[in-house]
Amino acid sequence: MSAINYIEEHKEQFLNELLELLKIPSVSADKKFAGDVRKAAEYLKTKFEELDTHVEICETAGYPIVYAEHIKNPNLPTVLVYGHYDVQPADPYELWDSPPFEPVIKNEKIYARGSADDKGQMYMHVKAYEALIKTDSLPCNVKFMIEGEEEVGSENLEVFVKENRKKLAADVILISDTAMISNETPSINVGLKGLSYLEVEVVGPNRDLHSGVYGGAVANPINILCQMIASLQDEKGRITIPGFYDKVQELSDEYRAKMAEAPFNLDDFKKDLGIDEVKGEEGYSTIERTGIRPTLDVNGIWGGYIGEGAKTVLPSKANAKISMRLVPDQTSDEITKLFEEHFKSIAPKSVKVKVTPHHGGEPAVTPTDSIGYKAAVKAMAKSWGKDPIPTREGGSIPIVALFKEELGLDSILMGFGLNEDAIHSPNESYGLFNYYRGIETISYFYQFFTDMSKS
Ligand code: BES
Ligand code: MN
Ligand code: MN
Repeated sequence: MSAINYIEEHKEQFLNELLELLKIPSVSADKKFAGDVRKAAEYLKTKFEELDTHVEICETAGYPIVYAEHIKNPNLPTVLVYGHYDVQPADPYELWDSPPFEPVIKNEKIYARGSADDKGQMYMHVKAYEALIKTDSLPCNVKFMIEGEEEVGSENLEVFVKENRKKLAADVILISDTAMISNETPSINVGLKGLSYLEVEVVGPNRDLHSGVYGGAVANPINILCQMIASLQDEKGRITIPGFYDKVQELSDEYRAKMAEAPFNLDDFKKDLGIDEVKGEEGYSTIERTGIRPTLDVNGIWGGYIGEGAKTVLPSKANAKISMRLVPDQTSDEITKLFEEHFKSIAPKSVKVKVTPHHGGEPAVTPTDSIGYKAAVKAMAKSWGKDPIPTREGGSIPIVALFKEELGLDSILMGFGLNEDAIHSPNESYGLFNYYRGIETISYFYQFFTDMSKS
């Protein structure tokens, strides 16, 4: 039997196993779910064991890494698969149409937290491997490294990679944790953004005050924080932090013209989000803004009274979480430092400002002349009957830059998600089409990669 026939015959089993995995609330950001995060790792371990595959739960200072391998012959090429079994928090729960950890299938899509990011996409690899093993058609060696801390910065994976260079030796890294243009237009991600994420606190008076008794005479930290944040972008949508753009690679007109050829419908984009107009850096298209330009966004802001009714209060402090998405050759340390200096410099004397950096990550660009990339193109072309388009996305997978640095390996970002999957949002979903097409395409990749490595 061919691997493709095997996939066709095991569709139901493949789906049911994913649904089981999606029922485990493996939220890495929230300690409350610590037991469940481990349960997801154990679940994967069982699945590899059922395939008689060598598998280890590698303990770290945080959540474990599931490592599995099948070495057929050391002389054959080795593919290292990376994915994550942890998910984002599902909050706010009340905005879900069905409970986030009780997966349901509706309109040919699986609705559950993690369905697309990344359990559904990661599990395609486990099932493609199963199909190849069971039909005796795995053409090369495979290693799996599936972590449980991607959504919180992959700090312990970083340590693991540095300490296990030999174990992780491979010829290419294969990852499905990104999106395609659409189900009709396949694409391969060739660019991820870096990330600088920090928290700011603006402190005014030493206690909350009566907003009538003191209002207008004492700096209100929320008012000040809003002014400071507003000043971080000018009327052209440019970030005003001095030096912010110094290292940004300006892409050639040819490159930009090529990017513009990819199908993109601005009306659909607006309609999907329920907005009348888009907004961003002047002189760049929406696709360029998300793909190749650095950005700055407030991710959360709080302070003062937010309970029911009105409480007249002039708060003592205000806070915000701010992310900056970076492009080559910006580095997160440098941008974090520039932000901190600038933010402190624009604070009026009436308040004190504290800046606390969180995790960061570097941008990554994948070369398109490697065997791995070409094999991925060929695999998608075989599945779709047309070549995939290279795209850059605004999301970050910081470990990709680290893989390059520590292991010297490029990552092939062959993702099968769609922007409409609503990752990190309520009602996250993943298409059944995408799940099965992904499994099939991954199985082709192994064959093409092995063949092309030989010649
Ligand atoms: N899978 C995403 C990254 C992604 C999404 C890349 C869409 C390309 C397109 C990943 O799980 C993620 O959410 N990463 C975080 C960064 C991390 C350090 C928390 C992100 O991009 O916010
Ligand atoms: Mn992900
Ligand atoms: Mn994510």
